[in-house]
Amino acid sequence: MSLEVRLEGLSVGYGAGAPVLEPTDLVFPAGSFTALLGPSGCGKSTVLGAVAGFVRPTAGRVTSGSVPVREPGPERGVVFQHYALFPWRTALGNVEFALKRLGLSRPERRERALAALEEVGLADGARKYPAQLSGGMQQRVALARALAAEPEVLLMDEPFGALDALTRSRMQELLRELWRRRGTTVLFVTHDIDEALALAGRVVVLGGTPGRVLADHPVPPGPPDPSLRALIATHLTTP
Ligand SMILES: Nc1ncnc2c1ncn2[C@@H]1O[C@H](COP(=O)(O)OP(=O)(O)OP(=O)(O)O)[C@@H](O)[C@H]1O
Ligand SMILES: [Mg+2]
Repeated sequence: MSLEVRLEGLSVGYGAGAPVLEPTDLVFPAGSFTALLGPSGCGKSTVLGAVAGFVRPTAGRVTSGSVPVREPGPERGVVFQHYALFPWRTALGNVEFALKRLGLSRPERRERALAALEEVGLADGARKYPAQLSGGMQQRVALARALAAEPEVLLMDEPFGALDALTRSRMQELLRELWRRRGTTVLFVTHDIDEALALAGRVVVLGGTPGRVLADHPVPPGPPDPSLRALIATHLTTP
């Protein structure tokens, strides 16, 4: 159902450049929902990319369920800010396409894709093309695409950043509901402190150059706590 993710002394540099992430140790327990928060350029996407298997560590490693991550894998689903749907495929076609590498039969792919679209509330839009769908609907397709493979870890990089406030809060509710139902381990990148507090059970603040962990706070359930918000905000403004 879900896997523990670990960063063990993870450091990343791109090409011959200086490291953009200092050696970092973090454990994300199976089934936890963590927000990675921090200013632009602090290495949030880099961390997520390393967990996804797109970005190679220069030192240390990432494990997913104790297995070292070497490349992308279907047990780690990814949702980006830009939905990256194929415009020439319907919503259903986009989700089905993502299931191809799982070795399922065509009817199985169809069944799973329809179920995932239903899960995100888009059963009605299954036969529509991305251009016929609103931004929020397109992001639902992207979420369905990630969920259809039944990932044990869900990696989301500012997935709601391009949405208007109302659609965004609806998507946040949907994500919380999906997480409660599925128990998937979620790593959610955002630079929005309120989004982090609304969604996650833990907020890890990254910052600095090279990036490092500045703070790591559990978020108690219930309405957002103004003093916790203020505390986290101090980490975001301190260089
Ligand atoms: N492919 C790349 N090649 C070279 N440098 C990169 C590459 N990707 C990221 N970087 C650099 O690594 C650092 C961290 O980038 P990263 O994208 O992880 O930041 P971020 O926290 O996700 O920022 P944002 O909030 O703007 O998305 C930045 O200095 C960036 O310029
Ligand atoms: Mg980023």
